[in-house]
Amino acid sequence: MGEVEPAFIQELQHRPKLCVIEAEEIPVIDLSPVTKEAVSEASSIERLVKEIGSACKEWGFFQVINHGVPLNLRENIEKASRMFFSQSVEEKRKVSRDERNAMGYYDTEHTKNVRDWKEVFDSVAKDPTLVPLTPHEHDDRLTYWTNSSPQYPPHLRSTIKKYVEETEKLSFKLMELIALSLGLEAKRFEEFFVKDQTSLFRLNYYPTCPSPHLALGVGPHKDVGALTVLAQDEVEGLEVKHNGDWIRIKLIPNSFIINLGDIVQVWSNDAYESPEHRVVVNSEKERFSYPFFLFPAQETEVKPLEELINDQNPSKYRPYKWGKFLVHRFSTNFKKREVDNIQI
Ligand code: SIN
Ligand code: FE2
Repeated sequence: MGEVEPAFIQELQHRPKLCVIEAEEIPVIDLSPVTKEAVSEASSIERLVKEIGSACKEWGFFQVINHGVPLNLRENIEKASRMFFSQSVEEKRKVSRDERNAMGYYDTEHTKNVRDWKEVFDSVAKDPTLVPLTPHEHDDRLTYWTNSSPQYPPHLRSTIKKYVEETEKLSFKLMELIALSLGLEAKRFEEFFVKDQTSLFRLNYYPTCPSPHLALGVGPHKDVGALTVLAQDEVEGLEVKHNGDWIRIKLIPNSFIINLGDIVQVWSNDAYESPEHRVVVNSEKERFSYPFFLFPAQETEVKPLEELINDQNPSKYRPYKWGKFLVHRFSTNFKKREVDNIQI
């Protein structure tokens, strides 16, 4: 059985292969036409929109370079995160996520009923009071941020805030390019994010694992939000399902890995899909990653955009309320795990 507890052991068909996997390059997109100071020619923007469109269609995953997020903000996140996770479990549990506090530390995430080999610290990207994720009417689930943020490292909160502000800007730029690639107006998605946005920022820590062929850092899942902007350290491990195979993503230093979530799939009425992915762990190297999940306002009714449906291509999805979905997702995290995939 190896050295990991049974709760972590994946079913046979989900276990990663034992052989050495060569990482592969997913589409790399240079965002300089929309991030550099000087005004870009229309043709270079057009080219960029085309590249984004084909990456979304082919993969739903791509990497961006010249993205405009200052490197020092990212380095600061990396340092702060290492400091936070280096504490004793006892210390980290003082800022635990629990039934009343949706944000905070936890090490018991399950994906498809199998425990993930990782530790997490979740924080909201925006004003915490705007994000009632739990069924409690007006709750104090974010007391860690408002009253007793983690004591260590002392600058964790401000570091996250600065980083998230820039990452969020990048995510909005990407949503504009995605809108254009679908033949929509650049600002088409803006209405869903301007007010009461519920985005989430996560610190992931994958400790070394004695049996990386049995466990996964995160089991196969799709992201439920609109878009995920992921930074990570130099240790590879993220894999995307592409044409039926698991592809290990080759890293480009200081790039961001972007993936589409279920909401873009629904908005686009399946023109784009939310790709399945997973994280493989390592017996020698620990790994850190930092996803920013772009989520719309709670009140958003998620459904295919009118412009993208017609008689030949009718709506493939029934509308759902994003806020309700999140509340359900959060509350089932603390109940019996009857839902299939509880990943945010
Ligand atoms: C995730 O998909 O939940 C995590 C991605 C990563 O750590 O690379
Ligand atoms: Fe994910």
